[in-house]
Amino acid sequence: MVDAWWGREVLPGLTRLFLNHFWSTSFIATEHDDIVGFLVGFHSPSQPGEAYVHWVGVDPAYRRSGLARSLYDRFFRQASQSGCSVVRAITTPANDASIRFHSVLGFDVSPPVADYNGPGRDMVTFAYTLPDVGPPPE
Ligand SMILES: CC(C)(COP(=O)(O)OP(=O)(O)OC[C@H]1O[C@@H](n2cnc3c(N)ncnc32)[C@H](O)[C@@H]1OP(=O)(O)O)[C@@H](O)C(=O)NCCC(=O)NCCS
Repeated sequence: MVDAWWGREVLPGLTRLFLNHFWSTSFIATEHDDIVGFLVGFHSPSQPGEAYVHWVGVDPAYRRSGLARSLYDRFFRQASQSGCSVVRAITTPANDASIRFHSVLGFDVSPPVADYNGPGRDMVTFAYTLPDVGPPPE
């Protein structure tokens, strides 16, 4: 499913550890029991105040309807309420849709960072400053 959504092989990177260990900070969108979108993220255990989105994907048939934005909105709200002040993500320089999408959401977008993920693996980095919303209501 995700290989078709991304248009290239990405499944080997979406290992079970993300679902087993980050489910409480991840979100799934369903339609008639089918998964049509998901966001896998976490609140960094090592960088206090930072949250990170590792995967966001939407079924091509459901794109441009605000689904990824709504998944991010939920992640932003939960991260803010947990005391995070910044959300980070990355993408490949060739992923124009991801760069455009994150830019429209208000992320600061870096130029490609050379060798970010190892030799020849340049990445564009995204950073979004969260508003201080205080703790969730009781
Ligand atoms: C990137 C992706 C998650 C966006 O999902 P989506 O649900 O279509 O996004 P939304 O409908 O919430 O888009 C919100 C806004 O972002 C911008 N945007 C989203 N996709 C865009 C695209 N392909 N080109 C230009 N702008 C885009 C638009 O401004 C859009 O608002 P509009 O439709 O009212 O103009 C989706 O294209 C996808 O799953 N791509 C493959 C997986 C991937 O590359 N994920 C990101 C890297 S991990």
